[in-house]
Amino acid sequence: MILIHTKKELGDFLADQRRLGKSVGLVPTMGALHIGHASLVNRSVAENDITVVSVFLNPTQFNDPNDLEKYPRTLEADCRLLEECGATVCFAPSVQEVYPEPDTRTFSYPPTDSVMEGAFRPGHFNGVCQVVSKLFMMAEPDRAYFGEKDFQQIAVIRRMVEDLKFKIEIVPCPVIREESGLAFSSRNTLLSEDERRIAANIYQTLKASKLMAGKATVQQTHAYVVEHIEAIEGLRVEYYSIVDGRTLADVDDWSQSEDIVGCITVFCGSQPIRLIDHIRYK
Ligand code: PAF
Repeated sequence: MILIHTKKELGDFLADQRRLGKSVGLVPTMGALHIGHASLVNRSVAENDITVVSVFLNPTQFNDPNDLEKYPRTLEADCRLLEECGATVCFAPSVQEVYPEPDTRTFSYPPTDSVMEGAFRPGHFNGVCQVVSKLFMMAEPDRAYFGEKDFQQIAVIRRMVEDLKFKIEIVPCPVIREESGLAFSSRNTLLSEDERRIAANIYQTLKASKLMAGKATVQQTHAYVVEHIEAIEGLRVEYYSIVDGRTLADVDDWSQSEDIVGCITVFCGSQPIRLIDHIRYK
């Protein structure tokens, strides 16, 4: 695997590969890689001749400077994992390389980017679209791989791909979970053992709510999830929304859509650490 830090070097390398007729898969990441990321990389390696994994902690998508400060930075370990997965390139540019001048572009795809994470983290998806569009322009991949853990992010990126007419296939990859059910996330390393155990209740509650959903209304299911999680010491729900899986608009009746997803954000522990998860009801 080669480690590349500049757009020029990446562009030259990929131009050579394309001349040889090679297909390119891109896995955008912010580093602190775990087996959830490894599953995306493995999939790209299986489906493309060349796999580029970007490791870039994108400042424009953090609306909270403390969150950016706390985010784990582990490039050496990341490279070891990418090497094991068979990635071709680790692209780890500096902030100056990606943003030689401030990015003033704005992206707006309501309601997809204005609800849930969009409402609670103003500017977050604008920053995601800024960096992902830049990475798409730098790598010009045939396919790009994103984890379904960030369910809303995939919906926003699909809207951006349509809007900017990128000829890139977006490949969503399933959530990878710890044995307890807790979704793998770079933020999990910031949790203590005890907090990790408590955080497992998030998915356990979502799963239990799926079992009751057939017999209960959307409102009762919503209340069940919020009440159960809030009753656990160390967990606080920021929002829970039951939405149409494509438009992300709220639903108030199970018959309203064939694709219904519950999306949750929970604060865990005293620091606290912000965790997201979701469950597909239909
Ligand atoms: O999902 C992430 O890790 C980030 O939002 C992404 C897509 C790499 C953009 O910085």
